[in-house]
Amino acid sequence: MDYQALQLDIADGIATIWMNRPDRHNAFDETLIAELDDAFRRLDDDPHTRVIVLGGRGKSFSAGADLNWMRRAAGYTVEENLRDARALAATLRSIDRAHKPTIARIHGAALGGGTGLACVCNVAIATTEASFATTEVKFGIVPATIGPYVVRAIGERNAYRYFLTAERFDANEARRIGMVHDVCAPDDLDGRVHAIASSLLIGGPRAQFAAKQLIHSLVHRAVDEVVIEETAQCIANLRATPDAKEGIAAFLEKRPPGWLEV
Ligand code: COA
Repeated sequence: MDYQALQLDIADGIATIWMNRPDRHNAFDETLIAELDDAFRRLDDDPHTRVIVLGGRGKSFSAGADLNWMRRAAGYTVEENLRDARALAATLRSIDRAHKPTIARIHGAALGGGTGLACVCNVAIATTEASFATTEVKFGIVPATIGPYVVRAIGERNAYRYFLTAERFDANEARRIGMVHDVCAPDDLDGRVHAIASSLLIGGPRAQFAAKQLIHSLVHRAVDEVVIEETAQCIANLRATPDAKEGIAAFLEKRPPGWLEV
């Protein structure tokens, strides 16, 4: 498995997928999204893997969508934008539908899509210095493809606050609202993740898959094809709007967006 933007470690039934764009805080573009999808699918089929851990190399877990890529996407056709948005929605679904238990190992920034990746994994462990936010509205877009998983984790009430304010919050607040299960000191992160993974190794793999299916069938609204397609359409339509162009350009040019001046 030769990846450009990922590294894999597999030991004792525990596979760790490392997002590996540290100079971009593991922001994801087409390549990283496609590779994540491929890695989750392969590891889900790999008989030597029982538990899949997702982490980030460098200072952050993930700074979400690569804003350079989002800026390029504003110039894409509607069809190209939809294909792109569907690819991210499909990757999130591959993680969500993995038969094997998944753990998010979160340190540093988990922003935008990074928050989505934290929520889509079955268990999330964060360090005391981790920070979270659904920052999308600051860039004139919305947390669309990650929306089903974030709302599922934190509930409608918290989603209204954080989707609309784009406030940053810390790991303790993330635990309070149900985004992460556990918070630990940075030096303890690998130990905590290993302890959870070890607990997961104890359960029967088919039973764990059945438990995941059961939970899925019990949730208020399953993340079905209709929801997936709605979220892809939603982000694809928003990317080329004036607010999205301005918000993304302002970030990349290190200046406040125009709407702050009114
Ligand atoms: N897309 C593209 N590039 C990004 C990025 C993103 N999502 N997040 C960070 N980067 C880049 C920065 O532009 C910067 O590039 P440069 O070295 O060419 O100037 C580099 O990563 C380092 O980021 P910087 O902001 O200088 O580091 P920091 O430690 O002060 O802050 C973050 C790190 C992640 C907290 C900050 O960059 C940030 O808030 N990023 C935006 C995250 C976000 O809201 N993502 C959701 C998008 S929908």
